[in-house]
Parts: sequence; structure tokens; C-alpha cells
Amino acid sequence: NTPRLTCTKRVSLCSLDTPFINHTFFHPHQLYVASNTVMGNKTTLFLLLLLLLFVLSHGVDTTMASNNLFLKRNSKSVVKTDAGEMRVVKSHSGRILDRSMHIGFIDMEPKSLFVPQYLDSNLIIFIRRGETKLGFIYNDELAERLLKIGDLYMIPAGSTFYLVNIGEAQRLQIICAIDPSTNLGLDTFQSFYIGGGPNSRSLLSGFDSIILKTAFNESRTEVEKIFSKELDGPFVYVGDSHAPSLWTKFLQLKKEDKVQHLKKMVQDQDQDQDQDQEEEEEEKEEEEEEKQTSRLWGKLLETVFGKVNGKIENKDTAGSPDSYNLYDKKPDFQNAYGWSKALHGGEYPPLRKPNIGVFHVNLTAGSMLVPHVNPRATEYGIVLRGYGKLQIVFPNGSNAINTKIKQGDVFVVPRYFPFCQIASRDGPLEFFGFSTSARNNKPQFLAGAVSLLKTMLGPELAAAFGVSEDTMRRTVDAQPESVIVPSTWAAPPEDGIIEGAHAA
Ligand SMILES: *[C@@H]1O[C@H](CO)[C@@H](O)[C@H](O)[C@H]1NC(C)=O
Ligand SMILES: *[C@@H]1O[C@H](CO)[C@@H](O)[C@H](O)[C@H]1NC(C)=O
Ligand SMILES: *[C@@H]1O[C@H](CO)[C@@H](O)[C@H](O)[C@H]1NC(C)=O
Repeated sequence: NTPRLTCTKRVSLCSLDTPFINHTFFHPHQLYVASNTVMGNKTTLFLLLLLLLFVLSHGVDTTMASNNLFLKRNSKSVVKTDAGEMRVVKSHSGRILDRSMHIGFIDMEPKSLFVPQYLDSNLIIFIRRGETKLGFIYNDELAERLLKIGDLYMIPAGSTFYLVNIGEAQRLQIICAIDPSTNLGLDTFQSFYIGGGPNSRSLLSGFDSIILKTAFNESRTEVEKIFSKELDGPFVYVGDSHAPSLWTKFLQLKKEDKVQHLKKMVQDQDQDQDQDQEEEEEEKEEEEEEKQTSRLWGKLLETVFGKVNGKIENKDTAGSPDSYNLYDKKPDFQNAYGWSKALHGGEYPPLRKPNIGVFHVNLTAGSMLVPHVNPRATEYGIVLRGYGKLQIVFPNGSNAINTKIKQGDVFVVPRYFPFCQIASRDGPLEFFGFSTSARNNKPQFLAGAVSLLKTMLGPELAAAFGVSEDTMRRTVDAQPESVIVPSTWAAPPEDGIIEGAHAA
């Protein structure tokens, strides 16, 4: 009874147009309820029974549990405009997870800006595609960094930052870990937008204008113009084609003129010419004070937009830590079947504060990362490329999940839980992720040439399994490869029975 045969069976069931069989996944209970409504139709009942038998004999594929503790496919959009979107896969610490971490996916169109904001959570970003300019406040200075594909960066909770997609035609894709250890508990995480959040309002617009007037030492009309304006939302275009006229005009200026024009441009918006004249007289008197305001506001805006058209260099870094390129790191383990890398706080100190580690694994087609355990951390993995299989085992030795994984899936492996990943026969499986410890995680392998069983091999271990030491030794020694081993027999094909049925 091969999968291909059963697949054919199901396809033929579908072709009979039974309404319930259009779904790929069934729960026996659902089938029971469904059958009550079609009692009169013997053929349908027969088909349902057949299907029930199929389900019982094959088990319900666990891929249906698309948002359980271990596998998460339901990301939620948290902010979105036509210039970009941020989606988040939430997880909450509970009985099994020692520490929760949310995984965020930020997608930005070419020449767009994720407006200045700060979070109540530490943010570790990984550039999946494209290039970005990250600006953020570091030791009271504005630091900016150019980040490219494979780069990691840590933005501490409470530090104001913005992201610009500086690509002309390239979308920017960022995967991030949101570490809620400093979380306010209001939501999964909370963003405080300095300019133009999801409600199109700056955080500062919540203050009375008298407060802003005093705080910025600026005229009331002036602060109202800046902070009470309806803004464009969390993601805005800064490119020529989509940009509001304000930014288009601005981008055409020479760099040195930009700072001077910044303030003026902000003022000129939404204003009549005559109103402008009145303002100008007032402005002359306040010129000295305004210089200060424009310095603060201007510096921020300048660094956001000032270099969008020009060459970007990594120079105004204000002494902030360097980024770390995960792709440039040498594998910690490598053989003919794949490689694995782990990055800990000893190698990249910015990971220490949020206490987060990073890992990256690439398995060649049909290879398996042998069953292992992380004694120190929970792993949050994201499939970057390919298809494969994930198995996690409960402490009592029963199977917790046995599921296919594919690009974009987020999986969670609790600390101490044994697990393994297998690449499909059709191509490599690449995944990366974050672990809840910045220490060297020292995974313990349960099989392979370097394994816990091998290290422990002796009469005690043999006795525990109730076999002779020789038998034990033969079994433990049979695998010549360690860590990553060939396993074509176990690897699921790229489109197996489930996807096959979908397609039909
Ligand atoms: C700005 O500060 C100076 C000095 O404290 C003060 O004289 C001036 O009136 C202030 N301007 C505004 C607009 O509040
Ligand atoms: C992963 O391995 C495959 C070969 O199996 C290779 O083609 C691919 O470039 C590797 N991915 C990375 C990110 O190195
Ligand atoms: C093993 O533990 C899991 C989780 O606590 C539980 O759901 C499962 O039923 C247990 N299996 C056995 C065979 O006891």
C-alpha cells in the first residue's frame, strides 16, 4: 500500500464531487458529523467510510496542526501599507517553552521607509534579501549601518530605529526575532512610532501642543504642523515614482542644500502662499531657536532621506557594534551531507544582552540532521529554502510531531526535547533560527559516530536496553557518519501525497 496508490484513490474520490472531500484534511469527528447529514445517500456514505478507513489506517497527517506548539504557519499581519508589511508568528511561554520569542517577517518594497519607532522588545534582525540602511540611536547618537543579505543586527528594546530599503528594484526581506523579555505585556510587542504609525499619527501628537511648544522651544503653529499632521503610516515610499511631492522635491536637491530645505519643506506642506508670508516674518524672529529644532528633526530626516540617491557608506556608525554576516561564518560542522553553524555570544557579543543564539543549517537533498537534544535552549527555526521533515519527541518517548516543513514555516523545539530534520529527496533544506540562550548550546546527539550513546557505551547502557554489550556496540557503531547523515529512505518527496491531493 504505497503512498502513490492511496493518492490515486483519493483523487478518484474527489472527482466524484462529494462536497466534503474537497478538503485535504479530515478529523474523524468531522466526518461523523458530515455523514449524519447525508444518511440517505448510500454511495456517499460508502465513500465516507472508505475515506474514514483511509484516515484511520494512515493517521491524520500532523501537517493539519498548522499552528500548534511546534509548527507555526499562521503569521499575522501587524502593520501594512502598500509600501511594506510586517507579519508576526507569535508564541507564548507556558508549560513547555522556557522562554517565548516571536518571529517577525518584514517585507519592504524598493525605496521605502519603515518609519522611526522604538519597541518594548529586543529585536534581532536578519537580512534575508536585499539591502537596508538601518538608522538607530546608539549612546545618544544617531548611528547608521548598511546591512546586506545574511547580516544580523541587534536593536535593543527602547532604542529608536528606522529601516530604509535602499534597493532600486530589489524588495527587502527581513526575518527577526522579537524577544519580549522587556515586554510591557500590552500586546505581543508594542511599537512606539515617532512619526506616522498605523494610526497615521506620531507618538508625540499625544502631548498637548503647549507641552511640545515648550519642549521643542518652538512656536505652537510650528509644532502643530509637524506633530499633528496626518502621516502616511508605518511604511512609506521615498522613491521618485510614488513619493509625495515633498520628498520628490527634496530628493532632487544637492546634499548640502537638503538640511537647509528640510525645515522649510515641512512647513510649506498643506499651506497657502499668503499664510506662508505671515509665517516667514514670525520665522525671522525665531530663526535662532529654530535652528536648534531643525538640527534635531533635520538630522533624523537627513539620515533617513539624505543618501537615498547617493552612495551609502558605513561611516556614521557612532561606535555602534558591527553587524555579523551569518553567510560568511565558517560552518562549525561540515561533511558531504551538509553543514551547520551556531553563533553564540562569545563570538558576537551583542547577542549576550538579549541572551539569544543564532543557528543556520543546510542539509543536502535526502540528508538528515540526526536526532539530538538542546540541553540549554529552545529553538525557533525558520525554513529558508526547500522541503523536509521534522520530528520532535515528547520526554515520555511518544511522538510529539511528525510533519513536513517547507519554506517560510516556523518551528519551535522546546529545550530538552529530542528532534531531527530531514531534507526532501528533491533538494537541499536550509533553515536558520534563534535559540533562547547566547551560550554555546552544545547539542547532544543521540545517534551517529559522535553521539551520547557512543560515549556512554558499556555494560550499563547495554543493560538499560536489555541487550548484550556486543549487540549494543554493533548498533551504535554501524553509522560511520556523524551529525548529518544520508537518509534517502526517510526523506519525503517534495510533493507527497498531501500536496498531490491539493493539486488535484
Ligand atoms: C526659546 O528659548 C528662548 C530662551 O529660553 C526663549 O527666549 C524663546 O522665547 C523660546 N522660543 C519659543 C518659541 O518658545
Ligand atoms: C546549501 O547546499 C546546497 C547544496 O546541497 C547549495 O546549493 C546551497 O547553495 C547551499 N546553501 C547555502 C546558503 O549555502
Ligand atoms: C506523552 O506525553 C505527552 C505530553 O505530555 C502526552 O500528550 C502523551 O499522551 C504521552 N504519551 C504517553 C504514551 O504517555
